[in-house]
Amino acid sequence: MKLPPSPTLTAVRWTRKHLLGLEDLSKEEIVAILDTADSFSEISRRDRKKVPALTGKIVFNLFFENSTRTRTSFSLAAKRLSADTQDFTASVSSLSKGETFIDTAKNIEAMGADVMVVRHPTPGAPHLLSRHVEASIINAGDGSHEHPTQGLLDLMTIRKKKGTIAGLTVALVGDISHSRVARSNIWGLTKLGAKVILCGPPTLVPRSLEGLGCEVAYHLDEVLPRCDVVNVLRIQFERAAGGSFPSIAEYSHFYGMNQRRVELARPDLLLLAPGPINRGVELTPEVADGPNSAILDQVANGLAVRMAVLYLVSGRKDAPSPLSESFS
Ligand code: CP
Repeated sequence: MKLPPSPTLTAVRWTRKHLLGLEDLSKEEIVAILDTADSFSEISRRDRKKVPALTGKIVFNLFFENSTRTRTSFSLAAKRLSADTQDFTASVSSLSKGETFIDTAKNIEAMGADVMVVRHPTPGAPHLLSRHVEASIINAGDGSHEHPTQGLLDLMTIRKKKGTIAGLTVALVGDISHSRVARSNIWGLTKLGAKVILCGPPTLVPRSLEGLGCEVAYHLDEVLPRCDVVNVLRIQFERAAGGSFPSIAEYSHFYGMNQRRVELARPDLLLLAPGPINRGVELTPEVADGPNSAILDQVANGLAVRMAVLYLVSGRKDAPSPLSESFS
């Protein structure tokens, strides 16, 4: 079978051992990850969806919070790069016997982990680990702080669909206060030159967020005609966000994306949602599954972003051809 030509990776000077958040990254570093992810996305179109770039490396998933997309996406990304992968499940671990988070991680490192992908309900938990272990740490979501690979896959989806990010107006709608996705989007979008509007109930969108260079708005219908992209955020009921408005019905009335609201926006509106989505709450099924929605494109792009991040933090960037199919 004739294979498509392999694009070469963008020449990047990547020096970071960890990916803890987009706040820390320069515009050039973010673009380098996106360019690398673009190159890796070609592997998904191959008949044999695997390259030897991380052969011999061990990637551990340490998830202390539930996940569908992020966990499986990192696991699959590591496998596509030929790394050995192992999932750690907190609920059936020796944490219940009193072992500390750091001791647990040190024991996993003693088994040879090169990369630890960490999701934790406490903001800063991955940062703490990065100071106690030698392995590379990737933040897969720390409380309401950051979710850098979600921010990156959102950026990748916007760039692929719109051709650019600079100059676009992007609204993040809903529960901004509790959203790590919002924070990573804010850092990434503003660094790449987008205008960011944060829109939701005043109890979930503090005016102080203007200090991050964003516009704060409380009336979605007034904002929509200016938007190129709307990213609909989930209400974080697990972080008590449900107490911030009178009822789900009222929230949906004022902030839910429905067909009427899509028609208020530009015809080429790009609609994103990080998932999991609550159909009928933050957006209606017809909008979630409609022509403006790129929700499943986000998931596909997430795989390429996570391959890029695993590859870059693993320090194999000088390998002659990371997209090569040959296994020696
Ligand atoms: N978007 C996201 O992080 O989804 P999961 O919680 O399923 O990983």
